[in-house]
Amino acid sequence: MRDITKIYPNGVVANDDVNFSVERGEIRALVGENGAGKSTLMKILYGLESFTSGAIYLDGQRVDISSPHKAIDLGIGMVHQNFMLVPSFTIAQNVVLGSEPRKGSFMDADAAIRITESLAKEYGLEVEATARIDATPVGMRQRVEILKTLYRGADLLILDEPTAVLTPQETDDLFEAVRRLVNQGKTVIFITHKLVEVKEISDTVTVMRHGKVTGNVATKDVSEVDIARMMVGRDVFLQVDKAPQQRGKAKARVEHLGYISETGRPMLRDVSFNVYEGEILGIAGVEGNGQTELVEVMSGLKPATTGEIYVGDRQVARKNARQVRRAGVGHIPEDRLTNGVALEATIAENLVVDRYYRPPIAHASIMSPRVIRSQSEALMAEFDIRAAGYDAPMDSLSGGNMQKVVLAREFSADPALLIAAQPTRGVDIGASEFIHNQLLAKRDDGKAILLVSADLSEVMNLSDRIAVMYKGKITGVFQNSPDLTEEELGFYMLGIKEQTPEEMAQNM
Ligand SMILES: Nc1ncnc2c1ncn2[C@@H]1O[C@H](COP(=O)(O)OP(=O)(O)O)[C@@H](O)[C@H]1O
Ligand SMILES: [Mg+2]
Repeated sequence: MRDITKIYPNGVVANDDVNFSVERGEIRALVGENGAGKSTLMKILYGLESFTSGAIYLDGQRVDISSPHKAIDLGIGMVHQNFMLVPSFTIAQNVVLGSEPRKGSFMDADAAIRITESLAKEYGLEVEATARIDATPVGMRQRVEILKTLYRGADLLILDEPTAVLTPQETDDLFEAVRRLVNQGKTVIFITHKLVEVKEISDTVTVMRHGKVTGNVATKDVSEVDIARMMVGRDVFLQVDKAPQQRGKAKARVEHLGYISETGRPMLRDVSFNVYEGEILGIAGVEGNGQTELVEVMSGLKPATTGEIYVGDRQVARKNARQVRRAGVGHIPEDRLTNGVALEATIAENLVVDRYYRPPIAHASIMSPRVIRSQSEALMAEFDIRAAGYDAPMDSLSGGNMQKVVLAREFSADPALLIAAQPTRGVDIGASEFIHNQLLAKRDDGKAILLVSADLSEVMNLSDRIAVMYKGKITGVFQNSPDLTEEELGFYMLGIKEQTPEEMAQNM
């Protein structure tokens, strides 16, 4: 792609004289912070967006890619950030959709299944051909999208932030599939903003910032810190700087907590721990071992089946979310875009939605528009929320900016206990650094913080103590220290080791 410039109708210069190339058989990472112009550049290559000036060459020939149809004819396929599958169709129907094998004038359903299964086998992308999409987990849906592009003859595959929706285990599976694709002669462009992934999967890296290319390097020649610097335009500290701890009294006490799901499965089993003022307690564990339920029960989204939770002297194990919030609990939800925001409301309404019944915003139940505006604008500046204005509708924001609205609301509410669930998932590096610093500032300010994260390095970097969950139970509680290793925690995460109650009591 030579000298590509893209100016959107609203005047945004998304790509500014960009030169980008990829060699046959390589895995090229395309990285940059949210809004850098990565998706736009790749949509141009896939014929989804027109460009203002520049030219595209494929195998040395200038090509005209004015529609995805032409891109597909040229062997270019793209898997988007948001999947585009038909929920009520089976996996096989989705794979062949648009160029179905025929039997007379009908789709040949058996052939569709055969085609899907043989492609899946060839590329190691395991799917259940006859399952409906709406009954299919996210990781498998993504494999369906990849199979779809392969069925259409893609030689060059563009994957736009494919790991944003995946668990660590699913990410490993995807990486394996990508390597296999390349071994079979395909070429892959992999968009991400996670540096660990760049190092792990790519041969070469193109870095973008503010619509321009700021670097083209061989992956082995650069460190994560080097790439971060090119992305952000300044030195970035990937390791956090933690002040010595001033631990206070137990702010939250969780005692023998149990939760049985609607389907009758025990998801939390006799969970007990304290969170102290001035500490970050990290919950580590492979996803799906009860962490989500623990957060939901503690934030009032679900009632505990057994056991007690005290915040200060208030008992909240079976209170609703608003009551729990009034007891001084803040919650950064794992799924911020569905549980964290009201899409049909404005940014201001989302920022102050939890405090409209309190001064200084409401006096005698009347909201002051002036205060709402000034508070909203101050938070938007502090948290770098980019939008047309404080009264812009929430659904006009990018995902990254929506996340920042939730974070701004929860951090500024200044809760006594803050529950942060996967706080940096789907967030770029600059923003991750900011979030980590905010969490540490709250801790240094004497707040109690419960950090639940599937990212073990995040838990180890930030936490004062670490509790490990496995199958709904706490299997170990540790003081964080340089002697504590990921491997050691791994044994507890996999249920290979478990502390005795006496050992656990030492670190409670
Ligand atoms: N359809 C669009 N209309 C107007 N502006 C857009 C559109 N799509 C993206 N942009 C803007 O272009 C810039 C680059 O966006 P994008 O290519 O999505 O970045 P990235 O994928 O790196 O996050 C951003 O400022 C974004 O807001
Ligand atoms: Mg993008």
